[in-house]
Amino acid sequence: MLESGLAGRVCLVTGAASGIGRATAEILAGQGARLVVVDRDAEQLAAVPLDCEHTAVVADVAQPAEVDRIFDEVDARFGRLDVLIHCAALFRIAALPDVDEEEWDQILDVNLKGSFLLCQGAVERMRTHGDGRIVLFGSFAARTGGLRAGAPYAASKAGVEGLARHVAAYAGPLGVRVNCMHPGFTETALTSVLDDVARADAISRTPLGRVASAAEQASMAVVLASDLASFVHGATLDVNGGMYMA
Ligand SMILES: NC(=O)c1ccc[n+]([C@@H]2O[C@H](COP(=O)([O-])OP(=O)(O)OC[C@H]3O[C@@H](n4cnc5c(N)ncnc54)[C@H](O)[C@@H]3O)[C@@H](O)[C@H]2O)c1
Repeated sequence: MLESGLAGRVCLVTGAASGIGRATAEILAGQGARLVVVDRDAEQLAAVPLDCEHTAVVADVAQPAEVDRIFDEVDARFGRLDVLIHCAALFRIAALPDVDEEEWDQILDVNLKGSFLLCQGAVERMRTHGDGRIVLFGSFAARTGGLRAGAPYAASKAGVEGLARHVAAYAGPLGVRVNCMHPGFTETALTSVLDDVARADAISRTPLGRVASAAEQASMAVVLASDLASFVHGATLDVNGGMYMA
């Protein structure tokens, strides 16, 4: 029998109010994990039904003081951290000429700086007990150029992959496994802003002939964080139905 080894583990999930993050929290709850769920959307976060020991933190992952507050809650409530699955991200459609500095900064702050701040805090805690697992979310936009998504999103997600590799190199010797996922087109609130042409185009470029569900992305993230992936480290996993084959 395959065992995830996640029962009782303290898992921090960001973006847990919606889509892949929410599905991740639900799967981890089913595995008997203890959860710290984070989102900036208080109302939607409170509406996530979690049948496990958990605490919810409403915070903006782009703000260092708010990330500190997340880790204060981890420390106060559980006194340790085993898993970080960082799903929170900002997605906006913008053609290159329309991207101004404010837009660039906002998206890079949430998607890339937020990932950095969370990795820093997570590694600091995981190293104290010599074990931890981190899963960061990039995107197929980092592979394909993300023409529909826009420059800040594509660049931020390529940056997340580089960050994951750096943290893997640094934290592997400390017992912390770090991996990055590049989801393909997935049915969530994030992609609901795209029109039918974009969806049809994604499907036509996907050998499996459909888009993914949030649960399909979440289950892979949970596997990466579990004992089942005990020698997977520094990897970037494309979960895209074959849309892009690295
Ligand atoms: N859906 C897709 O097709 C797709 C494709 C490639 C990559 N991804 C990546 O997968 C991850 C999850 O995406 P999703 O589709 O579930 O998105 P989603 O929009 O459904 O959920 C994202 C969540 O992050 C939260 N969030 C946004 N900014 C935040 C901030 N500053 N602080 C705290 N929370 C914040 C939102 O409130 C939301 O609940 C993201 O990193 C996304 O870039 C998604």
